[in-house]
Amino acid sequence: MSEEEINLPLIDPTIIGQILDTQAVGFSFPAQIVFGYGVLNRISFLSLFLKSSNAFIICDPEIEKLGYVRKVQRYLKLSGLTSTVFNEIEPNPNEETVIKAVESYKNAGCDLVIAIGGGSAIDVGKVVRLLAKQGGKLSDYDAARSSIMSIHELLPPQISIPTTSGTGSEVSIVAMITTEKEKITVLGYPLISTIALVDPELTMSCPPRLTAYCGMDALTHAIESFISLRINPVADMFSLQAITLISQNLKKVYENGNDAKARINMSLAALEAGMAFNQKSVGLVHAMSHQLSAKFNLPHGLANAVMLPYVLKFNKSVSKEKYATMGIAFGLSLGSIDEGAERFIQEVEKLNDALSIPKKLRECGVKESEIPEMAKMALKDISIITNPLQPITQETVEKLYREAY
Ligand SMILES: [Fe+2]
Repeated sequence: MSEEEINLPLIDPTIIGQILDTQAVGFSFPAQIVFGYGVLNRISFLSLFLKSSNAFIICDPEIEKLGYVRKVQRYLKLSGLTSTVFNEIEPNPNEETVIKAVESYKNAGCDLVIAIGGGSAIDVGKVVRLLAKQGGKLSDYDAARSSIMSIHELLPPQISIPTTSGTGSEVSIVAMITTEKEKITVLGYPLISTIALVDPELTMSCPPRLTAYCGMDALTHAIESFISLRINPVADMFSLQAITLISQNLKKVYENGNDAKARINMSLAALEAGMAFNQKSVGLVHAMSHQLSAKFNLPHGLANAVMLPYVLKFNKSVSKEKYATMGIAFGLSLGSIDEGAERFIQEVEKLNDALSIPKKLRECGVKESEIPEMAKMALKDISIITNPLQPITQETVEKLYREAY
């Protein structure tokens, strides 16, 4: 074959750029998932599989009291593994806690992180591995200011064990940590848990209010990823199934935490919504709720739940068809696109009411005077990039905070 024959036609690189921007789809679900009622007993096998011998268990004091940590330690000990417990995780974890945890991890000479809890424990686990291995300060890895490539080392393994159905942190490449001034997003593929060990039995003790907040966080992940500007049809299947499962099970687990079948379905929904947003990111609800949590320590799921209907109305003009599709996933009957979109928003509001979620930020201790500053920070939040309606201005965000106030 002559050289001329094997020459491929030249394509203008700007056209390739356009194709990649609009049509390239990546499917990557790198965390290994072990899901099922009672699978916590696989922890020692999985730790040995990761060739680990000394685990660093991260949790909050409440989770420790529930006995899950003791149980994990017992399983590990039976297989000859040692462990150290760090039980100082708080809601919306801060930088000081992370620094303490990194020191403790290094001093104990651990080679595996086991994070048991909600998103806070799992997120701290990710950052502990990063700072222990790569060094530096948390701000060096702030996604708003640094490249995704700033995390370049292969990190020690992490097994993440969620005790709530909501954050999806066990399958995400993101960690959120609060500093003195703001909420920092750390983002990178090496952060992802090596194994997500999802045992719905651990969510049975989750109290009703936290169950509601976490469930609404999962719903927000499913919705915001589905309407995101990124294209990923595989992730969309996860979003839609998560919406169906949440519509059928969230009220049930809120009203009766002992409903094991509903708990299993909510665990699955949160996992699927987490897998979806890890591909397509989230949107303006998260960009705004992060500031509410950073300024007023509002639980993440509560902040999302309050903001969700207002942002849904804001995005409606460009997302109507998708709202109608999500309405069908919610179990609504087919009507016109406009009707379907409107009824979907109403259904989300009804679900908030059924879960006793406040309608207004003023009921959650938020101060109106902080709105301009929160709006400024929301515009810098990485979640805003994939919101379907663009551009978003300071005035727009302030207006939405005021509507919700
Ligand atoms: Fe979230």
